[in-house]
Amino acid sequence: MRQLGLIISHLFLLSWMPWVTGGNVQLTVGNGAEWGEWGQIDMCPEGHYASGFSLKVEDSQGGGDDTALNGIRLYCVDPNNNVNGDYATVESSVGRWGEWTPVKWCVSQFLASFMLRVEPLQGWGDDTGANNIKFNCSRSGAELEGDGMEWGSWGNWSIKCPEDAICGLQTLLEPPQGTGDDTALNDVRFFCCN
Ligand SMILES: *[C@@H]1O[C@H](CO)[C@@H](O)[C@H](O)[C@H]1NC(C)=O
Ligand SMILES: *[C@@H]1O[C@H](CO)[C@@H](O)[C@H](O)[C@H]1NC(C)=O
Repeated sequence: MRQLGLIISHLFLLSWMPWVTGGNVQLTVGNGAEWGEWGQIDMCPEGHYASGFSLKVEDSQGGGDDTALNGIRLYCVDPNNNVNGDYATVESSVGRWGEWTPVKWCVSQFLASFMLRVEPLQGWGDDTGANNIKFNCSRSGAELEGDGMEWGSWGNWSIKCPEDAICGLQTLLEPPQGTGDDTALNDVRFFCCN
């Protein structure tokens, strides 16, 4: 009986850790919008961590169909071999609208937690889904806010990578709706590496 109890309590603990998959802790938030399909998981090259990011953002369309956030690009660097300022980039799924914003860096640090700005459901109105993102840097906790759009509101911070930092991502992207209401990028999860 005692063993059964132990097994059950272990199962209970595991059910509290849905973000632990394949050895990579996942960072998620609860306020993402739900439209679209999860893109491929894109990981930084081995030994690299995300130190900077850029967003693909569509400006306000006036009376037209707004999509706001269309993409997130992570700039991956190798802390043990960064003499030339070399980096690699990863993006997962990216929407077709908007322009890439200037890169923001956690200088000599890495991205370690995030928060998403999301517009709630507009009913018959024009939905945009996710609009902007903020990250905390790994050591200082300094906050970097993306150059996204202003609609909606910020949710809660994700957990922080328990060790080291973000090294990959997967985005939820709505495919083009034709004459319908496009929202583009709606949610994201990040992966941590040790
Ligand atoms: C991220 O930065 C904000 C603002 O400085 C701070 O309030 C928050 O606690 C930080 N979160 C983490 C996980 O460090
Ligand atoms: C943020 O966290 C608070 C406290 O846990 C919760 O009540 C609230 O619903 C959360 N907000 C979002 C947008 O997930």
